[in-house]
Amino acid sequence: MLNRVMGRLDFIRILVRGCFLAILSMTVYPILRYLTPPKFRLPRDVSVTAAKLSEVPPNTAKIFPFGSKPAILIHTASDEYKAFSAVCTHLNCTVQYDQKASVIMCACHNGRYGLDGRVISGPPPRPLEEYKVALRRDEIIVSKG
Ligand code: FES
Repeated sequence: MLNRVMGRLDFIRILVRGCFLAILSMTVYPILRYLTPPKFRLPRDVSVTAAKLSEVPPNTAKIFPFGSKPAILIHTASDEYKAFSAVCTHLNCTVQYDQKASVIMCACHNGRYGLDGRVISGPPPRPLEEYKVALRRDEIIVSKG
């Protein structure tokens, strides 16, 4: 009789510990994924026509496809063209250009980048990847590599 009761208690203990470990792993895994942002790389030598000159007046930006990811072309108020990956280095949201503040911002967790791609504030761990910009006739060419 005593052995039978101990067997049931051992079974319940194993069941409770198993449930605890399952709940612990379901809690810890998403936290670890949140804290370690995913990395990705574009293939070398990507080059695209990002926009026509007339599409991007000063102090505006355009999101365009660059390889399989979005990129952002910015025509600054000081008449420079800049291009960056539009994928936030925190959790991969697409960034936007904030015309009033002249910064690149990520609305997901309020990350902010300067016009050199560096992180100004918020959770992004790395700067945005910058791409080369060239003007060819009335087109703006963005390339990497
Ligand atoms: S995904 Fe951009 S700040 Fe979190």
